[in-house]
Amino acid sequence: MIKYLGSKRKLLGPIAAVFADLAPGTRVLDLFSGTSRVSQALKQQGLYVCSNDHNLYAHTIARCYIEADAQSVLPDITEILKELETTKPEPGWFTRTYCEEARFFHPDNGAIIEGMRNRIDKLDLAEPIRSIVLVALMEAADRVDSTTGLQMAYLKKWAARAHKPLQLRVPEMLNGTGSATCLDAIVAAKEFSGSAAYLDPPYNQHSYRSNYHIWETLIRWDQPEVYGVARKRIDCKTEKSDFNSRRRILSAFSDTIDSLNVDRIVVSFNNEGYLHRDEIEKILSTRGSVHTVELDHKRYVGAQIGIHNQSGKKVGAVSHLRNKELLFVVGQGAAQTAQAARSVQTNV
Ligand SMILES: C[S@@+](CC[C@H](N)C(=O)[O-])C[C@H]1O[C@@H](n2cnc3c(N)ncnc32)[C@H](O)[C@@H]1O
Repeated sequence: MIKYLGSKRKLLGPIAAVFADLAPGTRVLDLFSGTSRVSQALKQQGLYVCSNDHNLYAHTIARCYIEADAQSVLPDITEILKELETTKPEPGWFTRTYCEEARFFHPDNGAIIEGMRNRIDKLDLAEPIRSIVLVALMEAADRVDSTTGLQMAYLKKWAARAHKPLQLRVPEMLNGTGSATCLDAIVAAKEFSGSAAYLDPPYNQHSYRSNYHIWETLIRWDQPEVYGVARKRIDCKTEKSDFNSRRRILSAFSDTIDSLNVDRIVVSFNNEGYLHRDEIEKILSTRGSVHTVELDHKRYVGAQIGIHNQSGKKVGAVSHLRNKELLFVVGQGAAQTAQAARSVQTNV
């Protein structure tokens, strides 16, 4: 799994607990699926999960882990990855942009990534096999990157892992099927028919397209115009989410909630985000009485490392290292399932 800001990896216990009473096969929407960690936990609980994310790299992850049925594709995947391992390095646009103009990957690995990615297109694979192979490559590249987990910047000195050779691994997929869409949240909310929805939107100005622009390019393979030290895709300037806008997030959130025709809504939000707890509770209260669960959580990696100036010198102290993740539950069974979430011990 790739390193991902806002991944709910460490909060899966309480989040899954809020859906634990639903019958097997119940349709559940994960509207902002990211790494698909939450979708995977729900799929493992026997639910039929529909994962949505508007970024193509996240959609590709959802096709791999949620849409695909492990047992029907594993033999093919293993064969294809074995064959891909024999690919020769092909240094070109990707290597120049992300390994020479910027230093996100060691050039030796960059050229291998580039060769493999070219080969994947030549293989002309059917879905979801293609997505699974792309995820295997993305995860392999993530294991040898030279960042702190965001692609806004790369490390001044190569990370130790950047010197390791790139190695493909078969993604740890799950048995069973689900579905995946790549839509704006409000469209996906309108189109969904099912029983419950989980919403984990961005909570501040930091755009996922910008934070993970190389994954978007690796999947699209479109050699976009790039800008700045981080060589970001030019469309990072225009492809903005309403949830990253202080001015628009409230109405985007409210419209999304209005668009959902489900019995239960569960929302994750951070106590340092653009929306305040009482604003979220007010919007959700149109659907019933709202039960809010507080989960103590470690802050993002930048806060753990501290504040540094451009030459890498530590220049300030971070005020606090932990914050609260809030889980809001509303609708059928909300009181009991929120209680179930509270009683799950988080280890964060
Ligand atoms: C906080 S992350 C979700 C993390 C996810 N729950 C996990 O555990 O990995 C928010 C996600 O919302 C997606 N996103 C942002 N704005 C969106 C929009 N308007 N419509 C759909 N997805 C959006 C981002 O691409 C990002 O993956």
